Amino acid sequence: MLEKTVTDNVLTLIYLFAAVLFIFGLKMMSKVPTAARGNRVSAVGMLIATAATFFALTGGAAISLIWVVIAMAIGGFIGLRMATKVEMTAMPQMVALLNGFGGIASLLVACADYARKATAERFVSDVLEVLGTPAPAEDFVGLTGTSLFATGLATLIGGVTFTGSLIAYGKLQGTKWVPDQPVQFFGQKPIIATLLIVSVLLCVVMAGTPGSGVNGLWLFLIVLMALALGVLLVIGIGGADMPVVIALLNSYSGLAAAMAGFVLNNYALIITGSLVGASGLILTSIMCKAMNRSLMNVLFGGMGSTSGGGGSQVTGEAHESSPEDAAIVLEAAEQVVIVPGYGMAVAQAQHAVKELAGELEKRGKRVYYAIHPVAGRMPGHMNVLLAEAGVEYDVLLDLEPSNAQLPQSDVALVIGANDVTNPDARTNEQSPLFGMPILDVDRARTVFVIKRSLNPGFAGIQNPLYFLDNTRMVFGDAKKVVTELANELEGI
Ligand code: TAP
Repeated sequence: MLEKTVTDNVLTLIYLFAAVLFIFGLKMMSKVPTAARGNRVSAVGMLIATAATFFALTGGAAISLIWVVIAMAIGGFIGLRMATKVEMTAMPQMVALLNGFGGIASLLVACADYARKATAERFVSDVLEVLGTPAPAEDFVGLTGTSLFATGLATLIGGVTFTGSLIAYGKLQGTKWVPDQPVQFFGQKPIIATLLIVSVLLCVVMAGTPGSGVNGLWLFLIVLMALALGVLLVIGIGGADMPVVIALLNSYSGLAAAMAGFVLNNYALIITGSLVGASGLILTSIMCKAMNRSLMNVLFGGMGSTSGGGGSQVTGEAHESSPEDAAIVLEAAEQVVIVPGYGMAVAQAQHAVKELAGELEKRGKRVYYAIHPVAGRMPGHMNVLLAEAGVEYDVLLDLEPSNAQLPQSDVALVIGANDVTNPDARTNEQSPLFGMPILDVDRARTVFVIKRSLNPGFAGIQNPLYFLDNTRMVFGDAKKVVTELANELEGI
């Protein structure tokens, strides 16, 4: 008994140490220069927690270890293959899938724990009956009201996360079986509300009757309702809003893991789950704010379809410019602000952009990069790409400092960005983007926009920037045009 307590205490201390590593890792990840180190610190924490759990649960018994090692090897191999093969632009789908796996893992852990304890409970009840010593079975096997409530919530949140993430994956991947457009039908919201209320009530009922044999049925119903809820919640949201949904599902997966931690009495799971839950929620809120949308609007507004609508009707003509002409203007400029967007990611133009900036800097120009918080398709998308190309962090400006620099810049060089530069967001109340903070590129002396056509971006609306007198369109693939620009500059 004493030996067991010592082992438990050592395990708890190891979990706490792992949790401290997670917290430090997370803190380091909030700053670009220390982010990679933070990731490694957290990974070490995870390794320590996993190894400790591994030995504590198996007690070193060779037969159990073999199954765990086989499962880890298969999972590790698939994970490694996926992580090394995934394109940067497909990262949101990958995160969606991983969130989904986290959700289903919590659901399975909670249900398996219930099944194991319920079987033990029945056994203990039977023995007690034979001995003629009636006593509440839960006292012996741990199926308390609290643990049952946590079991219900882990199952509910885990199930919603699983199917919700699969739908989000399907929408982003463009699979045939999940439409990109929001799917909304009559009575959808009342059905969602009913399923949610009934499943939470069932969790409460389970918690209130710990010894009841019907709890297994309630848990099964919670599983079914949670899986249905995940589909219903996410299918009504347009593919365009999926990055926000994924951040929210990430938070859910953390909450489900924290609940599973309560079920198993595992501190490491409770702490890490709470960290993921809280950080996912903060990220969701930052993204909503940057798009000037409320979370309710994202979840139930049925927006985000790429069909667009609203916004300015185009009047006038867009002025086209060649890379040669653009290079001449750049050569004469003193300060240039580069504004990257989703198109830079699609074209993988970040290295070419870094080269072009190098050419400009060689000529004594001040070069900044203006980074909009929702440029691209995932949080930090532009930062990751530019860091990969070796761009120094101190020239990356957030929204406000960028807007302070743009009016005193000779050139704003917009590379595959569209919505985040749309002046309608400032002035046109009819525009779906109205109120979203944008990069004021139109306030620079000259604006060059590199993209392939006048087609709209993510929000599906036209951008009046392209028709302003100080804007010049340089049509073409971002990588090709930026490389041409750098070559032209070199030749001047
Ligand atoms: P978008 O508005 O989507 O515009 C990207 C532009 O890139 C398109 O208009 C496209 O025009 C151009 N493009 C595509 N491929 C190209 C290529 N190979 N070469 C050159 N240009 C290319 O992008 P943005 O300005 O970065 O704005 C991001 C949008 O995503 C915002 O509406 C934001 O709300 C939304 N969003 C972002 C996030 C996060 S977290 N980043 C999350 C949810 C939603 P052409 O087809 O004419 O080339």
